[in-house]
Amino acid sequence: MFQLDSQPSIAPPETCIEIQGLSKSFAGQTLYDNFDLSLPSGQFISIFGPNGCGKSTLINMISGLIPIDSGRISINGKPIRRSRIGYVFQNYRDSLFPWMSAFDNIAYPLKVKGMKERECRDRVEQLIATFNIRLDLKRYPYSFSGGQQQLISILRALVADPEVLFLDEPFSALDFETTLFVRDKLQEIFMTAQLPMLMVVHNLEEAVYLADTVLLLSKRPTHLVAKVPFNAPRPRTPDTLSSPEFVQVSRHCLDIFQEEMRK
Ligand SMILES: Nc1ncnc2c1ncn2[C@@H]1O[C@H](COP(=O)(O)OP(=O)(O)OP(=O)(O)O)[C@@H](O)[C@H]1O
Ligand SMILES: [Mg+2]
Repeated sequence: MFQLDSQPSIAPPETCIEIQGLSKSFAGQTLYDNFDLSLPSGQFISIFGPNGCGKSTLINMISGLIPIDSGRISINGKPIRRSRIGYVFQNYRDSLFPWMSAFDNIAYPLKVKGMKERECRDRVEQLIATFNIRLDLKRYPYSFSGGQQQLISILRALVADPEVLFLDEPFSALDFETTLFVRDKLQEIFMTAQLPMLMVVHNLEEAVYLADTVLLLSKRPTHLVAKVPFNAPRPRTPDTLSSPEFVQVSRHCLDIFQEEMRK
């Protein structure tokens, strides 16, 4: 991409993601102009902002899926093309391969890297044991519920041991019940793996619920309006939703968002 291996590290080790002077336009319309962002390691970070402000574009640029016009992005002090990333797409139906078993879907990134059959099998088995997954992985995607399919997508994103996991609205194609299932499982994975996660969500309470930090973005051209910490203990449970801390942080985020929308 636009980063050279010879560039010195621009981020200290405790910083997971560092963005400096990022600019991006689509068809002459500026989306990001000289955008800076620094995110700490080990956190669950939610991204919330108005429709079309560039949330998906932001995680797509950080994860290297789309190019930037100018600026620098690093993950754990390295250029993104030397980093291992995991990405969970919004729509599990379009992202799983229907002709492969769940097991083969999960193992796919390892096979692409050229890992031997035996090692792939060991790695997938280790992954499902670590995260306590009880699914018959010989079955094909269509035979699972939506929540189970999204869980399979998450496992596929984790299988190659990413340094950071990106999720673009991972619950938006799920019904309420399966959202609760996937959300709990995601939290369990976060707590077990201590893997930094960056999740775009379009529901403010959903953004706060799992987060250590909520990033609130502005309308275009997009800038960071606020970085709001949420320090409730984990695991977060339905009781979290009625805790004074949750109510206060959600309200604070809503006030900031509404003020931004009035501008
Ligand atoms: N490949 C592209 N070509 C042209 N315009 C694009 C492209 N990708 C995104 N855009 C535009 O950039 C803006 C931001 O898009 P993006 O999908 O990042 O926003 P978002 O915040 O994720 O939106 P939503 O809330 O709808 O998911 C939108 O106006 C969109 O139309
Ligand atoms: Mg989006």
